[in-house]
Amino acid sequence: MPHAATARHAGRVHRIAIATAAEVSTLDDEGRHLLAALVDAGLEVEPAVWDDADVDWSSYDAVVVRSTWDYPRRLTEFLDWAARVAERTLLLNDVALLTWTTDKRYLLDLERAGVPVVPSVFLEPGQPTEHPLLGLEHVVKPTVSAGSIDTLRLGPDDPDRSRGLVEAIHATGRTAMVQPYLADVDVSGETALVYLDGVLSHAMRKGALLEAGAELHDGLYAQEQIDPRDATPEEAAVGEAALAAVAALPERAGALPPLYARVDLLGSPEGPVVLEVELAEPSLFLDLAPGSAQRFAEAVRRRLG
Ligand SMILES: Nc1ncnc2c1ncn2[C@@H]1O[C@H](COP(=O)(O)OP(=O)(O)O)[C@@H](O)[C@H]1O
Ligand SMILES: [Mg+2]
Repeated sequence: MPHAATARHAGRVHRIAIATAAEVSTLDDEGRHLLAALVDAGLEVEPAVWDDADVDWSSYDAVVVRSTWDYPRRLTEFLDWAARVAERTLLLNDVALLTWTTDKRYLLDLERAGVPVVPSVFLEPGQPTEHPLLGLEHVVKPTVSAGSIDTLRLGPDDPDRSRGLVEAIHATGRTAMVQPYLADVDVSGETALVYLDGVLSHAMRKGALLEAGAELHDGLYAQEQIDPRDATPEEAAVGEAALAAVAALPERAGALPPLYARVDLLGSPEGPVVLEVELAEPSLFLDLAPGSAQRFAEAVRRRLG
């Protein structure tokens, strides 16, 4: 019979932190649903605010990044935090993935890997605000963004507002990006493919978010219309290609797939194209897709060994 202390050690309950933002310190609906599933899987779980200096990250066996939605204006601070946590415990997703996914210039990596992406022009600070899409309906946004902050849909009649937003993004030292507005989103919405441990778990339809002529919103995230949807084989193939491109990044050699990933697709005349690969803080709709929170919890348990 094992020694009592050894048995206790072997059966020690793993402690998990769900990293969140101060504004959602008790988590959102999805976060609470995930917390319950992790507890049901035998783990001890609590939310922890990522920039709370009093949190002892080393006291957790794993830190799962979820609703840290206030990082875009503090990216360096956020990635420094991630690196510090990763020195002390298991950070999911890992620092390399968080670094890669939080700047949409990763679309260039995907494009180089042959993954169809929304055509994008990147405008670095110091470069002219003039861009080739001024004559079309287009979208201007910062490369580091979440929840549609500093994002506008602009018409060909609005070159001044377009250049003005690029300028405002540049003025804060950020890189701007410009894309054609893919109007299929007004009809079909956006498709979010959620992968858990590299396997497609479920898909959701997200309604269009940008209104022509609208002003910038200043909330933590934009209100979204979400409905379950099945991925078409074509969409699933693009999602797989995107994840394969991530796996093929030099910094991913030998690494496990992301614990969680969300690949957002828009329809285009050429078929589905990648709008985003979200590996940091995407909503995963775990509260809306039956069984998915349990799959997430099992994936966390596997990572704990
Ligand atoms: N090129 C585009 N065409 C159509 N809609 C877009 C485009 N880019 C962004 N959007 C809309 O704006 C929203 C936010 O943009 P997104 O690129 O997803 O950035 P983030 O979610 O990181 O803020 C999308 O969900 C989509 O509704
Ligand atoms: Mg998005």
